[in-house]
Amino acid sequence: MSSATPSVVILVSGSGSNLQAIIDAGNTGECPIHIAAVISNRPDVKGLERAANTGIATAVIDHTQFKDREDFDQALVKQIDLYQPDLVVLAGFMRILTRDFVGHYTGRLINIHPALLPDFPGLDTHERAIESGVQQHGASVHFVTTEVDGGPIILQASVPVENDDTPEKLAQRVLQQEHLIYPLAIKWFAEKRLRLDNNKVYLDKQLLPATGLNYAKVMENQ
Ligand code: GRF
Repeated sequence: MSSATPSVVILVSGSGSNLQAIIDAGNTGECPIHIAAVISNRPDVKGLERAANTGIATAVIDHTQFKDREDFDQALVKQIDLYQPDLVVLAGFMRILTRDFVGHYTGRLINIHPALLPDFPGLDTHERAIESGVQQHGASVHFVTTEVDGGPIILQASVPVENDDTPEKLAQRVLQQEHLIYPLAIKWFAEKRLRLDNNKVYLDKQLLPATGLNYAKVMENQ
């Protein structure tokens, strides 16, 4: 791996299917990154297994072992910084991060959220989308700021909500889109084309719209 290859640390809490999509995109060369480590706040999750299977370093910083959020986040920063990453990727990492943590990684911390932000921040997005009667739902990749699920959006992909959708069926279709948009956003970052400046997102020096780019349109224009 060339020393110019951007180094990435990925944080997970569970299944890690997004992690897998990123690993795969790295392996095919589609996404030019070096995954330095995968860190989980929960022991024994599938995400750790996926990383270990590929020979990626893993660590567990178990949040239940810390007296408060600040202590946990400090330990997490310490662990992440061992790898000196260019980018920190939250991939199903189910913890709210402190202001200090977010500040430490401003501009190099991204998340994926299973909704078309700014709609449906927080949990149970698929249930809420169905209940609210929206016709389109989807996923967003965004830079992380102190506002939970409120950071500047990079890329979104949408799926239609079907009449007979269940949260599980909808989640499955959204997840397929997540696996496409997360590696793409990471590739842009790795290629130094993506930048957060003054809370705004630029791709190739162009200011992105407030809801980021739309994946289908990006693909159309390729
Ligand atoms: C994804 O839907 C992601 O958007 C959300 O948590 C889920 C994680 O799935 N933040 P996985 O662990 O990547 O399979």
